[in-house]
Amino acid sequence: MAAHWHLDDIPWATFDAGKVDPELLRAVKAAALVEHNADDYVTYLSNVFADDPDFRAAARQWGVEERQHGAALAAWCKRADPAFDPDQAMADFLAGYRLPLDAESSVRGSRAGELVARCVVECGTSSFYSAIRDHTEEPALRWIAGKIAADEFRHYKLFLDHLRRYQQQAGGLGRWRRLRIALGRINEASDDELAMAYWCGNGKLGAYDRDSQSQAYARRALGLYRFEHIQRGLAMALKACDFAPQGRFGQLLTRIGWWLLQQRRKSLATSSAA
Ligand SMILES: [Fe+2]
Ligand SMILES: [Fe+2]
Repeated sequence: MAAHWHLDDIPWATFDAGKVDPELLRAVKAAALVEHNADDYVTYLSNVFADDPDFRAAARQWGVEERQHGAALAAWCKRADPAFDPDQAMADFLAGYRLPLDAESSVRGSRAGELVARCVVECGTSSFYSAIRDHTEEPALRWIAGKIAADEFRHYKLFLDHLRRYQQQAGGLGRWRRLRIALGRINEASDDELAMAYWCGNGKLGAYDRDSQSQAYARRALGLYRFEHIQRGLAMALKACDFAPQGRFGQLLTRIGWWLLQQRRKSLATSSAA
């Protein structure tokens, strides 16, 4: 899995400060920190898959690409806001949020479960950066988001290939069990990681409060999505659980997912958190 683009490829000459959306910028700062934290994920995955050299090698290259995502997004944030200090923000983030680096088995209960969760994360990031690409009018960010979205889709396929390998071994998970893990992972989007990244990326204003920071992030991120982004992301997640996205259940789940997103947007619009 060779890198498909490099930081030097970013078309900075097209950068247009007048087209930076300050609200989107706040969400991108959080995303930059989460992406940049890939080293910890590589350590965690290397522990969980300790005797699987193929997967460990793939995870190392995956980590290189995720770090590049963080570096590209941080560089864009710095152009958009010269006062942004990515190194300080990252140090603050790591002081506030760490993965269980000493874990020797997956927090998902099994390797197949871990790979389901990894697939779901890549579905989410692929949809998120596709949504940014389609939403932003700032040309450099549109370019970066397009490249990252394509990488995330390849990452999804990478983890899906390894998931299928583990599914064929003893202890493979039934599709409902996989779906439960997938939905659980989607639900974790409101956990500490993004909330802490949002707080650290945006100047640590006030005392840290997970719920208010999570809402502040979601208010800026959820408005980016169109139906097709959600539909595609959920189709990828369903496929990882061996449900046909176009089947009756898949279509129902997609409609429920889109409806829930609308409800969340409405409740965020009426809540008073910053
Ligand atoms: Fe990424
Ligand atoms: Fe990724």
